[in-house]
Amino acid sequence: MIKKVTALLLFLSTLWTALHLLCRDKRRAGKPAIVAHRGAAGLAPENTLAAIRIGLAHHAPYIEIDVQRSADGVLVVMHDQTVDRTSNGRGPVRELPWAELRWLDAGSYFSPRFAGETIPTLADALLLLQDKPATLVIEIKDPHFYPAISQQVLALLAEYQAQERVVVISFDRTELETFHGLAPGIPIGLAVPKPWPIPPIAPAQTVGVFWPGVLLDPTFVRRMHRRGYTVWVWTVNSPALMRLLAWLGVDGLTTDHPERASRL
Ligand code: G3P
Ligand code: CA
Repeated sequence: MIKKVTALLLFLSTLWTALHLLCRDKRRAGKPAIVAHRGAAGLAPENTLAAIRIGLAHHAPYIEIDVQRSADGVLVVMHDQTVDRTSNGRGPVRELPWAELRWLDAGSYFSPRFAGETIPTLADALLLLQDKPATLVIEIKDPHFYPAISQQVLALLAEYQAQERVVVISFDRTELETFHGLAPGIPIGLAVPKPWPIPPIAPAQTVGVFWPGVLLDPTFVRRMHRRGYTVWVWTVNSPALMRLLAWLGVDGLTTDHPERASRL
């Protein structure tokens, strides 16, 4: 019985390797762009200006952040729907006014070294990136809670003249369609947790996928490239995995550790 299981595992792993060897996109293999996840969430408290500065210091060409909205309509940089995990406050972002959110400590949960780091607004992030050689990747989180959030993001981009230095991404394809309808010139990316079945991607130009999907489906990257999309994978923190995914031809590595990716 053990022998049979071993033989089966050996067969499956040989098949998997052979399929990847055959199907990987050799023409695109090599040097994916680094997308510093939530700023640089492995090195500093996520989605803070400190994290963004560290992502920039490690030469990440893309800095990814998440956006939610306060009770009184301020766009803030926060991953979760509530402030509980990453600050000393409690409650849903959408129920707290900016006057409360702005004083929360969003650094101590990560390390006492970052005590006093606060929750930034999207405007703060745009201002910080204004004269930097990096593109801000703005993920619109949970748009069903935030009517007209695309219009609001767009108005802020216009105010900071940042339209040419951003990519807007979301798991919500309907919101991306809305955004694209308002600003067809701004690049957008659809995040998909798993590529089976692959949802319609257009009008996005980039598809973001949780990395195991790319390993489990040896044809995914090449198929996406053939259809004209770029492929980003999240969240890749191990150097070995970074190397493997680069070899398979992905275009972007979303990582909490941009310093590891840039060392490769
Ligand atoms: O780029 C997509 C990635 O950021 C999605 O994951 O949950 O960290 O926002 P999450
Ligand atoms: Ca994100």
